[in-house]
Amino acid sequence: MSKKEATKENSMENLIALCKRRGFVYQGSEIYGGLAGVYDFGPRGVELLNNIKASWWKANVYDKENYYGLDSGMFKHPRVWEASGHTKGFVDPMAECRKCNTRIRVDKELAKIGVAADEKMSEKDLNDLFDAHRNEMVCPSCGKKDFTAVRAFNLLVKTNLGDFTSAGSEPVYLPGEACQGIYLNFKNIVDTLQPSIPFGVAQMGKAFRNEISPRNFLFRTREFEQADTQFFVRPNENKEAYEAIKKDRWQWYLSLGIDEEKLRFKQHEHLVFYAKDAWDIEYDFPTFGFDEIEGIHDRTDYDLTQHMKFSGIDLRYTDPKTVEKYIPWILETSMGLGRVFLAVMADAYHEDELGGKTRVVLRLSPKLAPVKIAVFPLLKNKPQLVEKASEIYTTLKKEFGAVVFDDNGNIGKRYRRQDEIGTPFCVTVDFETIEKHAGVTVRDRDTGGQERVSEKELVDKLRVSMV
Ligand code: GAP
Repeated sequence: MSKKEATKENSMENLIALCKRRGFVYQGSEIYGGLAGVYDFGPRGVELLNNIKASWWKANVYDKENYYGLDSGMFKHPRVWEASGHTKGFVDPMAECRKCNTRIRVDKELAKIGVAADEKMSEKDLNDLFDAHRNEMVCPSCGKKDFTAVRAFNLLVKTNLGDFTSAGSEPVYLPGEACQGIYLNFKNIVDTLQPSIPFGVAQMGKAFRNEISPRNFLFRTREFEQADTQFFVRPNENKEAYEAIKKDRWQWYLSLGIDEEKLRFKQHEHLVFYAKDAWDIEYDFPTFGFDEIEGIHDRTDYDLTQHMKFSGIDLRYTDPKTVEKYIPWILETSMGLGRVFLAVMADAYHEDELGGKTRVVLRLSPKLAPVKIAVFPLLKNKPQLVEKASEIYTTLKKEFGAVVFDDNGNIGKRYRRQDEIGTPFCVTVDFETIEKHAGVTVRDRDTGGQERVSEKELVDKLRVSMV
């Protein structure tokens, strides 16, 4: 079996095609022509996503002493988003092409020509900056240089609940960020579980943003899921904990098997309205390069102070020893599950040569692979092979869950299909299994090497290799 050194095909297009071809990700509402900025995870994708989530939950709840899990409701009282600052401050600067109505993110388009727009700039200053560069601003759709004035565009998605036709009914917002549910339950957790500060709360939840220009596949979407931790510390005891959290999050990405060379930290130059310090973990994506997968934010006492002011409820923590009361400071980690999914897929995607043929292979860590084992009878028209393979399939499925049976096409094609979805092991029942009781062959995805393993030892051997 010849195996050439793997070469990474550096293209987002190939990755997107694989995601569709092998049932990882579909365009949302595809049969109606699609809905921009919304994607659906297919049967293979949801398994990979759930495995990423399980790894995150283990690292942030089970493996820690002082972290608690939460799952808060998506709809929240409308005042929450006033208190959080999102109804006013959660805006992107937008201009529209007068010719074809395409909307552009002004800050992103200015950045492309090397002009930085400060997040805190007023609408008037942004318009002045934009006007100074109008002749360089080209519409990405029609190529014209004719845009409207710049407008601050709020990203919150509004909806209504109950009888919204009656006078005085207020709109509610879909969550612009998942973490607000943690702040709203801070007091509940303190009152019911009496945790000592410092402690953390971990939660995964959907977020919705009316992104002006959703782009780069799962990278910038209008509906996405975030996995957040909020760590509550004593005021001014943020620095050391912040550094420890940054290190911890870096290690988690390495534990997924992501190439460290493709990761970097980047400090924010312009801080969002709630942050005192902010660092992103970035991944070097194919085609569009380094960009954020997770934000680590020092939010100080901003959130609890705001909710205390707007709700009128005392959200101070009482130190059980000194009875001192204070508003804890918050250190946040917020990761986009779609972006991490994309980074994991991009990192695993390889094209290499095996047995003289090129193939696409996803070198996913076994703990993330959507299918752990595929079981084949060598030939589908030999009942004794099919029967034995079915028996082994049933045993392995009970043990490992995500196991498939495949008797379609020749064995080479079956291997290729499994390589493309990252299945670490293929088990084949052949004539030697039946006639000589010689066990089955177990084929390794990355090397293509095969080993004969007795039926008795099969489960244990696979379990050890799965780690
Ligand atoms: N609670 C803090 C917060 O929401 P953020 O930097 O706006 O901070 C955190 O978002 C993470 O959510 C980002 O690092 C990114 O992974 C993900 N994210 C943000 N906007 C997104 C979008 N439009 N599409 C996909 N993921 C997004």
